Amino acid sequence: MDCTRRHALVLCALIVCLSGCGADQSGQSANPIGGAGGAAGTVPMNVPTGGSAGIGGAAGMAANPMGGSGAGGGAGIIPTTGGMGAGTGGATGGAPAPTGAVSYHKDIRPIVEARCLGCHVDGGSGPFPLDTWAAVEPVGALMVSAVMTRRMPPWLADDTDCTKIKDSQRLTDAQLKLFADWQAGGFPAGNEAEYAPLAGEPPPRDIGEPNLIVKARTPHQLDPGTEYYACVQTDANITEDTWVTAMDIVPENDEFVHHAIVSVGNGSCSALGTTAENMYSYRPGSRTLIFEEGDAMLIPAGSRIAIQFHYNTRFESWGSSLPTDSSPLRLWTLPSGQKPERAIVRMPHHDLFINIPVGAVDQQEGGTQSIGSEYARTGAEIIGISPHMHYLGQVFKETLHKADGSDVCLVNIPDWDQDWQLDYFFDPSAYIPIARGASVSQVCMFSNRQEDQGTDPEGNPFSPMYTTFGEDTRQEMCLGYIWFRYPLSGAL
Ligand code: HEC
Repeated sequence: MDCTRRHALVLCALIVCLSGCGADQSGQSANPIGGAGGAAGTVPMNVPTGGSAGIGGAAGMAANPMGGSGAGGGAGIIPTTGGMGAGTGGATGGAPAPTGAVSYHKDIRPIVEARCLGCHVDGGSGPFPLDTWAAVEPVGALMVSAVMTRRMPPWLADDTDCTKIKDSQRLTDAQLKLFADWQAGGFPAGNEAEYAPLAGEPPPRDIGEPNLIVKARTPHQLDPGTEYYACVQTDANITEDTWVTAMDIVPENDEFVHHAIVSVGNGSCSALGTTAENMYSYRPGSRTLIFEEGDAMLIPAGSRIAIQFHYNTRFESWGSSLPTDSSPLRLWTLPSGQKPERAIVRMPHHDLFINIPVGAVDQQEGGTQSIGSEYARTGAEIIGISPHMHYLGQVFKETLHKADGSDVCLVNIPDWDQDWQLDYFFDPSAYIPIARGASVSQVCMFSNRQEDQGTDPEGNPFSPMYTTFGEDTRQEMCLGYIWFRYPLSGAL
């Protein structure tokens, strides 16, 4: 059983629980809220470990006993992160909060709805729903631990002293304090009438339905019991220049589509040494990528579209009835013959000379590259960045050196996580005009100890090895895709 990978946590806890939950029933409760009335239920234990170290391995995990009568079934099975204590505590369900005190309905629910429900709903990629008080109540302590350590919501970039990111999902210090105060107050539900949605969160622009659906040419037969990458050729028939204004991938089944990368070009899924270019990547919780009004990305006539799917069928017992997958790539395109006002292009910025010996800790790699004239066109702006490393990555930073000699921080990722490869688009008010003579430099830090390793398809951690550059997950990359837009009229 692989209990070292994060997405296996819940399942691992379930297994641990099934095989030994009863033993904890009389255990000392580390739970601060103790049996404070309300419906009988199970409150998960959580002993924060002060960092992400607590999620590292099975040894640190304690499973919560199955719920009492109030919290039956799956809701009572919650993993904890770190610490061995587990026990039952009475739920504080519905306990009224003192006036003014931090409560679920007034303070926590607006944040949860805006930052968690993209994944934590029935059928979503999150391991359990958080969309009702009944669902939240038994996992309050676990939620607080997940947000305080910034494991949740998954959002790696810290734009505090960097270019402002549009739709940043990072919780503010003030929001973290609300979670801490909610815990200190005993996780009160509060009064439903006090609920109001988070202010300043405009809904995404209405773009209607996609007009081009691209699917596997032949549905991909899933390979049971393993985790693997498949390069799937699609039925796309791009006979003329096609401008994409928005795109997404809708997995047929979130449980086994782990992530997907769309390549446009010669049908290769690799962007290295081929004429294929990565255009879009999907991972759990991805929302539709919608470019600003007037912006679009070109798929040149004659291109083939291939999608590299990362499948994970390890934790499902589908047996011989494992289904096929044809998760669609959905594209919103401009009408035939119409051009956008501005084109969007991505420039890869690689360090190809990575050498990471076994035992390395925070070893710095990276380099500087000038921004070529194909990107630094008249009126060009940088609109975002998609950083990429694998398991050994720890820190990623990218800096723009403008032609006038000034520097701009493009992205700062203080605590890299291979499982969350995200695209960071800037707030339009923060788009950065660039001119010829500009360059970018990146800093990638890598560690190569046992605890930094990924796992093989059976879920066993790899042993550290001398690691160099490469696309395989056992090799490393220090790559930033920088997104530009430039006006089509008058472009050089
Ligand atoms: C982009 C999808 C996504 C969003 C948004 C998200 N989660 Fe999660 N969450 C997951 C996935 C997937 C897992 C299981 C794997 C993991 O832990 O990385 C998880 C695990 C958890 C866990 C259990 C494991 C742990 O790390 O403690 C908690 C608690 C949790 N999420 C709470 C939250 C809260 C609270 C929010 C909002 C503030 C949130 N999540 C937002 C996808 C998401």
